[in-house]
Amino acid sequence: MSILIKNGRIVTAAEDYIADIYIEGEQIVAIGQNLSLKADQEIDATGKLVFPGGIDPHVHLDMPFMGTYSSDDYSTGTLAALHGGTTSVIDFILQTQGKSLRHALEEWQGRSKGNAYGDYSFHMAVTDFNENTKLEIREMVEEGITSFKTFMAYKGALMIDDGQMVDLMQEVKRQGGMVTVHATNGDMIDKLIAKHKSEGKLSPLYHYLSQPEVTEAEASGRFSDMAHYTNVPAYIVHMTCEGALNAVRRATMRNQQVFVETCIQYLILDASLYENDFEGAKWVMSPPLRQPKDQEALWAGLNQGLIQVVGTDHCPFKWEQKLMGKDDFSKIPNGHPAIEHRIELLYSEGVNKGKITLNKFVEVSSTNAAKLFGMYPKKGCIAIGSDADLVIFDPNKQHQLSVNTHHMNVDYSGYEGWEVTGKCETVLLRGQIAIDKGETKINKGYGQFVKRNKVNGII
Ligand code: URP
Ligand code: ZN
Ligand code: ZN
Ligand code: ZN
Repeated sequence: MSILIKNGRIVTAAEDYIADIYIEGEQIVAIGQNLSLKADQEIDATGKLVFPGGIDPHVHLDMPFMGTYSSDDYSTGTLAALHGGTTSVIDFILQTQGKSLRHALEEWQGRSKGNAYGDYSFHMAVTDFNENTKLEIREMVEEGITSFKTFMAYKGALMIDDGQMVDLMQEVKRQGGMVTVHATNGDMIDKLIAKHKSEGKLSPLYHYLSQPEVTEAEASGRFSDMAHYTNVPAYIVHMTCEGALNAVRRATMRNQQVFVETCIQYLILDASLYENDFEGAKWVMSPPLRQPKDQEALWAGLNQGLIQVVGTDHCPFKWEQKLMGKDDFSKIPNGHPAIEHRIELLYSEGVNKGKITLNKFVEVSSTNAAKLFGMYPKKGCIAIGSDADLVIFDPNKQHQLSVNTHHMNVDYSGYEGWEVTGKCETVLLRGQIAIDKGETKINKGYGQFVKRNKVNGII
């Protein structure tokens, strides 16, 4: 099977030019102007952008969490991602405290195998670091799982202490991996939750007020210091605020590389959404949405190169699940649905409104994640020999986001009625047209596990 994409405006993290792309099998084999190659299928991309398939390195599919499971599984989640131009995702495996990493890996392999539409990989969340876990780090790296997630919050379920963190960092450094973190001060947050509950303050607003900026800034600084001490490649997930970003800015002043991800919601939504009583549960996530000044800091952080990645932290729960916390905000499952909207929202709110350039858009939605997590240049670029993971994008098409049209398995939208300029029209994954004008063209099971390379923390 061969495909020739004609006359598209090819945009990568570094380039912007009009040319044809010739695909044979799963890969790009030629790029040039007026290519006179015969293909089984030709796509006219005149007037369209062609950029690398998005990579969302922060999603939670079918994940057991807070007494329930996130509502998108590998099938619905990766299909929704493809509709929104994201061809690869990295999901989080959670070690159960007291059990092995291998046990957790097998559980996630069981959930994912044969079910995915899009390509996927795994981060391993280490929730119980001990002598046995230590021996498994190398095994995981050999499996192509080269990033290890830690939680500085969710005590009793996922959190590790600073001693475990330093030990883990040293072992991951030795084995050629990266340590990533949910950086918020779990003890402070638990104290604030208890205080608000004792005062009868139980609405979603108090989820927000239990996680003030300082809880994230403090943990981001502490994590950066531990990463400095151990010299491990380090990455902070879902950063939301100016204070946390300043902690990383200080780390960069001592020539330390700490990589940062923010998520689309923190760039475009703010904490005023928590004011509408229980409706705010739609946006109960950790860390919470912040203030407009934090949005400004995050956009600036992208342009300054302090923030390298925009993910989603996609962790959807249906309304019925959110209602578990109707009378107590601390029981609302944390997370919101966004896997389908990241690319289009980032284009519409970022590029179209002049906040970031087109090249920056590609860099932070695809290329940097591929580089940081050991998938480049197979993923994240348009080059000869790379996987033909491509988005053909109509930059002028206007549409509205809604629960009535999205593909995520959730019965509300966090972006209901949002007007978006720019639409993913055709999406290719490894040389196959996966989505064309809203129609799915591949079958469940087409998505493959991506075995990742060791990382060195330089991009
Ligand atoms: O609210 C969130 N973020 N839910 C998913 C788990 C996590 O902390 O990333
Ligand atoms: Zn089990
Ligand atoms: Zn988190
Ligand atoms: Zn998450």
